[in-house]
Amino acid sequence: GKTRHYHFDIMYQNVTRLCHSKSMVTVNGQFPGPRVVAREGDNLLIKVVNHVQHNISIHWHGIRQLQTGWADGPAYVTQCPIQTGQRYVYNYTIKGQRGTLFWHAHISWLRSTVYGPLIILPKKNVQYPFAKPHKEVPIIFGEWFNADTEAIIAQALQSGGGPNVSEAYTINGLPGPFYNCSKKDTFKLMVKPGKTYLLRLINAALNDELFFSIANHTLTVVEADAVYVKPFETNTILIAPGQTTNVLLKTKSQYPSAAFLMTARPYATGLGTFDNTTVAGILEYESPSNNHLNRVVSLFKPTLPALNDTSFATNFTNKLRSLASVLFPANVPQKVDKRLFFTVGLGTNPCQKNQTCQGPNGTMFAASVNNVSFTLPTTALLQSHFFGQSRGVYAPYFPSSPLHPFNYTGNPPNNTMVSNGTKVVVLPFNTSVELVMQDTSILGAESHPLHLHGFNFFVVGQGFGNYDPSKDPSNFNLVDPVERNTVGIPSGGWVAIRFLTDNPGVWFMHCHLEVHTSWGLRMAWIVLDGKLPNQKLLPPPADLPKC
Ligand code: C2O
Repeated sequence: GKTRHYHFDIMYQNVTRLCHSKSMVTVNGQFPGPRVVAREGDNLLIKVVNHVQHNISIHWHGIRQLQTGWADGPAYVTQCPIQTGQRYVYNYTIKGQRGTLFWHAHISWLRSTVYGPLIILPKKNVQYPFAKPHKEVPIIFGEWFNADTEAIIAQALQSGGGPNVSEAYTINGLPGPFYNCSKKDTFKLMVKPGKTYLLRLINAALNDELFFSIANHTLTVVEADAVYVKPFETNTILIAPGQTTNVLLKTKSQYPSAAFLMTARPYATGLGTFDNTTVAGILEYESPSNNHLNRVVSLFKPTLPALNDTSFATNFTNKLRSLASVLFPANVPQKVDKRLFFTVGLGTNPCQKNQTCQGPNGTMFAASVNNVSFTLPTTALLQSHFFGQSRGVYAPYFPSSPLHPFNYTGNPPNNTMVSNGTKVVVLPFNTSVELVMQDTSILGAESHPLHLHGFNFFVVGQGFGNYDPSKDPSNFNLVDPVERNTVGIPSGGWVAIRFLTDNPGVWFMHCHLEVHTSWGLRMAWIVLDGKLPNQKLLPPPADLPKC
C-alpha cells in the first residue's frame, strides 16, 4: 500500500441553512467535511490541528485499527482530546477492509457538524463482486440544528430532560425543498440513462434511523458497513446512525421526461419527541441534447414506509446476508468461549440538587447497559490500561447480567434506577464472544443502533420479546450472517452477535443515537495482548494528546 496524507484544520465556519446562519465547527471550513479516500493496505496519516475553542477528537468509524487503538479517536476512551491550539496525527493502516465508512468527531455532540465520508477502495487490480459501476456517489445523511448543538446537549444534561430535536435532515449537508427557505439547498444527482451507479449511503445523523428511497427506481443492496452482502433488490433502505450501505442504482434505459425525488425520513417506534420531517434530493437525467430543462415535465416522489413500520424494518434486516463466498468468506466463530447477556435501554438517575429535572417523576434521564450508566473518565482508558494505571480510572469488571432482571415483554418495572460507573469487560486475546443484547423497552420503545469499535461482528440471531437461551440459539445463522459494526437492537427485542477478540486495546461500544450515548448507554471492552508480536498493542505515538 501507499501512504496518504490528509490535513484537517478544525475551524469555525459560517454556514446558512433554512435561512439560519451560524458559526459552527468544521474541518477545513467544509460542511459536510472532506472525503477521505484510500485503498485497502494503505497507510493513512491525517494531521488534525485544532483552531477552535472546543476540545476535539476524530473517529474513523468502522476502521478496525488493528494494533493501533491510539488512532481510534473516542475522547477519554482511546485518547485525551486534542485541545485548542494542539495537533495530533492519526496514523493507521487499513488491513483487510474495503468499502464505505465515515469519519466523525467523537466528543460531546460535535459530530453533528464534523463528519465526512471515508471510502476504502479495493487493492489495485482487485474487482468488486459486481460489475464495475459507471460512477460512485457518496450520499451522507445528517441533521441540521438551527442552534448550537453543544449548547443543546449541555442544556439537556443540565436539565435532566430530553434535548431539542433537529430542524431538518440533510443529504450531503442539504435539507432540500420540503423545508422553508431551503429550495436552493437541494442535493442534485445528474445521471445518464442505461448506466449503473454505486451509491455509498452513510447515516451520520445524530439521533434517527432513516428510510431512504428514490421514486420509480429499484436499488440493489451490495454492501453493509463495508462488508459485501448477497445482493438483493428493494425500493427502500433502512439505515441507522453509524451504518453504511452500498446500493447499485440502474438508471432507466431511455431518457425520461421526469425527474425523481430521493427522500429520507425516520423510522421511529418510540413515543418520544423526534424530528419527523423529510429530506429530499433530486435524481435527474442528463439529456444528450442538453435541453433537459425543457424536457422535464414532472417530478415523482417516492412512498416511504410508515414511521413505525417495524415489519418493514424486520424484513429488511433479515435480508442482509454475508456473501460467504470463496473470495469473501464469512468467518463466523463456530464455538463460543465467553457468553454475555446485556440489557440495553433507558432509565433514570436521581435529580441533583439545584437542578430542575424533566425526567419521569422529577428524575433525570439516564441510559445503561446492564443497569450501568457509563461515566467517561477524565483521562483516557487506553493510556491507563497500557501503563497499568487503572486504579481510580476504571473497574476491570462489568456485570455479566442485568442488575435488575425483569420480564422485558411485561409492564415496565418500577425500578428504573441505574448505577453510574466506569466498568469494563476484560478478555484475553482471541476469545470467541457471543453477546446477546436485549432491549428493555423501559421509558420508550426505541431501536438502539449499537456500535462496537475495533471489530466487525456477525449478527447470528435476532427476535422479539425475551431472549430464550434454551430455544433461540438453535435458530442462529452460523453460515452467512451479516458482518457489520453497528446493529439495531429491535424495540422490544434482542440481537445475538459473535466476534473474535483479535484486536488488543480498549474498545468503546455504545448506542449511536447520540442522546442515548450522552445519557450513558455506552461501555468498553479491554482485549489483552496475545503472545505473538502482531498480537500486541503498539506503544503510543509521541504526539498523543495529554489530558
Ligand atoms: Cu461512530 Cu463511537 O462512533
